[in-house]
Amino acid sequence: MVIAVLFLLVIIIAIVLFWRVIRTAASVEKLDNGLYAMEYPLIAEQNLRFCSRPQRKCFGTEEKMKEIIFQGTDMVKTYGETTVLHGISLELYRDDFAVIMGSSGSGKSTFLYAVSGMDRLSGGQLFYKGNPPSDEMIDIAHASEKELTRLRAEDFGFVFQRSHLVSSLTLEENIRMAGLICGSMSEKEIWEKTDVLIRQMCLEKAKDRLPAQVSGGEAQRAAVARAVIAGPRILFADEPTGALNKANTEEVLELLTALYAQGQSILLVTHDREAALRGNRILYLEDGSIVGELELSPYQGKDREREQKLAAWLEGFQW
Ligand SMILES: Nc1ncnc2c1ncn2[C@@H]1O[C@H](COP(=O)(O)OP(=O)(O)OP(=O)(O)O)[C@@H](O)[C@H]1O
Ligand SMILES: [Mg+2]
Repeated sequence: MVIAVLFLLVIIIAIVLFWRVIRTAASVEKLDNGLYAMEYPLIAEQNLRFCSRPQRKCFGTEEKMKEIIFQGTDMVKTYGETTVLHGISLELYRDDFAVIMGSSGSGKSTFLYAVSGMDRLSGGQLFYKGNPPSDEMIDIAHASEKELTRLRAEDFGFVFQRSHLVSSLTLEENIRMAGLICGSMSEKEIWEKTDVLIRQMCLEKAKDRLPAQVSGGEAQRAAVARAVIAGPRILFADEPTGALNKANTEEVLELLTALYAQGQSILLVTHDREAALRGNRILYLEDGSIVGELELSPYQGKDREREQKLAAWLEGFQW
């Protein structure tokens, strides 16, 4: 009898303990979710886009906090005895259309190649923030080749002056190939996304032709599609309209503007005022140093006042 009562007591105590453990685990999870919602309100509420932690250094007003995606400090690039980048310290923000202007030889391409991990800095630091909500900072200046290859395939998109499409593949195949290389998309996804991009870039008629059989504008639009198929966190563009005529330039700029409006972060290097007008943050590079910065509102179409503002700012650099 006594043994039976003791046995019953042990069972009751075990049940009570088990129930308390479950309750504690549930409240910890609730607390975690609450903190997560406090720190990442936009994700928690609408699953829309990453919002920076309140204490992180931000740019802009309270409602429009910007998250730093690149943080460069004293960035130096030398070629032998020649110093091309002279200790640039600069932050780049998510959801920005940043534009680098400057005279020929000022170091614009060198800067873009260093930031995007295509080339190594000779000195200084450069950190890239990985995918949210992780707070991982990747040291681009010292990352392994394997890590840089992964970033270039998955996180960064590239467009250059020439389209650099594979000459033996059709435009459609070129776009798909970039999806296959990134490695994180299923074949079905790649096929569907290619179809969407071909429609968005108005390439339906040209998609089955080789790069040599299409116009410069069509080839460059395919190059942009190829650059964005993997959903890069930032699109790097070095003089993407430099080899195009006026009409094709306009088409490519419209495309970049539309991508930016959809939330694509862009870093554009250009000589072209029309191209620069599409950006919202213009940086001026002179002899390897950033010597000026102009903030513009997001591009909403041709705007005389905006053109004058940029022209007056550029005049200050004898542009
Ligand atoms: N691999 C290299 N070896 C030596 N010098 C180089 C190398 N690449 C670039 N440079 C030099 O670095 C300087 C900056 O070159 P960069 O290509 O960045 O200029 P840029 O501003 O992009 O010019 P542009 O507007 O003509 O494209 C130039 O003086 C160039 O000659
Ligand atoms: Mg250049």
